[in-house]
Amino acid sequence: MILDSLKTYYENILASVQDGIVVISKEQIITTFNPAIEEMSGISSSHVVGKSLETVFPSESRLLELTGKTINTGITYSDSDFQIMRRWDRKIFPISLVISPFSDREGNIAGAVLVLRDMTRTKELEENLRKADRLASLGTLSAGMAHEIKNPLGGLRGAAQLLQEEIKGEKYREYTGVIIKETDRINSIVENLLTLSNPKPLKLKPLNIHKVLENILLLEEKILKKIKITIVRDFDPSLPSLLIDEGQITQVFLNIVKNAAETMKKGGELTLITKIFYDYIVIEEGGRPQTKMGLVEVTDTGEGFGEDALSNLFTPFFSTKSKGTGLGLAISHKIIDEHKGRIKIQNRTDRKGASVQVFLPIALDTV
Ligand SMILES: Nc1ncnc2c1ncn2[C@@H]1O[C@H](COP(=O)(O)OP(=O)(O)OP(=O)(O)O)[C@@H](O)[C@H]1O
Ligand SMILES: [Mg+2]
Repeated sequence: MILDSLKTYYENILASVQDGIVVISKEQIITTFNPAIEEMSGISSSHVVGKSLETVFPSESRLLELTGKTINTGITYSDSDFQIMRRWDRKIFPISLVISPFSDREGNIAGAVLVLRDMTRTKELEENLRKADRLASLGTLSAGMAHEIKNPLGGLRGAAQLLQEEIKGEKYREYTGVIIKETDRINSIVENLLTLSNPKPLKLKPLNIHKVLENILLLEEKILKKIKITIVRDFDPSLPSLLIDEGQITQVFLNIVKNAAETMKKGGELTLITKIFYDYIVIEEGGRPQTKMGLVEVTDTGEGFGEDALSNLFTPFFSTKSKGTGLGLAISHKIIDEHKGRIKIQNRTDRKGASVQVFLPIALDTV
């Protein structure tokens, strides 16, 4: 009886730990496999307890090597750059791994405890910080340049317009038309650059995000229909109002929807999903309060992000398109940041295509 309650006691402790914990015997037979590691690996504990570590993780040579070393030498080994792949959806978890030996009463090594910490969120935060740093220095430079370009550009456009009025021949008018069109294009790039480096102050209001999304679909309707894109709406009607700047968030989703349309030139499916998301924010004291966010996910059935694009997300001027300026995602990222939201971009795992998730704060008085 006492043994039973002791067992439950330890099981409860292991179940409440957020780190993955695997305990193995000296012979490397698994004796404990807690729920956190079940979740990360996608393997149920009932399938692995009693089996050897090697049969369960045959391709994880680094894990097997370090465990072997720990058991043979009695030294704790760690690897902060380890990865584990969940079986059912092939999701990769970046892991910080620590393998510590434990001894029996006589002091002989009896086995090892493997602690696997999911570093997904930490890695994301690190990556975001790195990008913010890069953007900040780029921003100062481009803001200065943008101002310098705008003035002569205005002069150029004005002169071309005057010329257009004076010129008689159709052919020459065509040329001045090109000058005006192209100066407008440069102007919009410069405007975008200015937004990026010197964002306009937000005019935050509690807004129904579904209305904002419907407006965007209305704006893009013609183009989407023309290239035979089906729109699927999966809106959660119970989603509270979000605290957003309508104009700027419209720009964000316009960029995202345009990107989706541009990758589905031969048609496809554009899905807009909204739902409430419980985000974890790690606070300094180590507690993990839950923060409710509104999540808008836009998925497409296009080509998906190339490897190059994935490692250059939000880098201004990175584009794989012949006519792209590569500012769409950089600006969207900036605007979402200003909203204290976040953006997560990945390729779909269920089929070919991309998924862009935008997390935005819920207006407090509506919670
Ligand atoms: N839905 C998507 N599917 C696949 N790749 C995408 C998708 N959205 C963006 N990308 C990739 O990311 C790159 C950067 O996108 P971004 O919107 O910043 O710039 P762009 O679309 O190339 O140009 P701009 O938006 O300034 O016209 C794209 O060139 C493309 O390679
Ligand atoms: Mg774009």
